[in-house]
Amino acid sequence: MKLAKYLANLGYGSRRQVAAMIERGRVTTLAGEAIDGAESIEHGDILVDGEPLDPPPRSVIMMSKPVGYACTTVGSTPTIYDLLPERFRARRPVMASVGRLDLDTSGLLLLTDDGQVNHRVTSPRTHLRKVYEVTLATDLRGDEREIFASGSLMLESDAEPLHAATLEALGPRHARLTVTEGRYHQARRMFAAVGNHVTTLHRSAVGGLELSGVEPGQWRVLNQDDKNQLFRWPSSDR
Ligand code: URA
Repeated sequence: MKLAKYLANLGYGSRRQVAAMIERGRVTTLAGEAIDGAESIEHGDILVDGEPLDPPPRSVIMMSKPVGYACTTVGSTPTIYDLLPERFRARRPVMASVGRLDLDTSGLLLLTDDGQVNHRVTSPRTHLRKVYEVTLATDLRGDEREIFASGSLMLESDAEPLHAATLEALGPRHARLTVTEGRYHQARRMFAAVGNHVTTLHRSAVGGLELSGVEPGQWRVLNQDDKNQLFRWPSSDR
């Protein structure tokens, strides 16, 4: 792919704008030599205005989504794209969120421009676990663990019962919920079904990947080990 098209797809500007950047010597090698656009150069060897390029195509990033940011590209509330370089809005293919977290939910959110990865994480067939730390408005009754584990809990307006989910009580109003589905408002609706109300919801893990070392509002690109970790769940050794 021509460099101008490659950079335009990464959101650095229209093809014409990017061609002008190349022309002006703003696109260089690591050694600072201007790249003329004709040669084929590795992603990691290219700088724009002295800065490394944004993640290459087919990347997966892990964001620590704060409360109050919507998983959408449009709207007046702050969105997850406000936490990324402006260029990300112009990337093609788009860097899309992998499933969604509610406006009031914080925690581990993946974004990718790789449709296969997106599908693999969100597909109900993958049964990838999602772990939520939950705080509740009223004390746990004591029977929630069994009800969630039963595999027969029907949520209002759903056609199928929920798959078995794991609940670990961490305190009277604090629990860790592990689910293997991604139904609409699932965690909040599960607790509503047992007469409670979720006051805070935080996703701490997806698959075998934990949200650690990423501060709220920050993000990082997953490396191959992270991606292996992501899909290492469910696994036979657990
Ligand atoms: N369950 C919910 O209710 N909300 C989320 O954002 C994620 C899971």
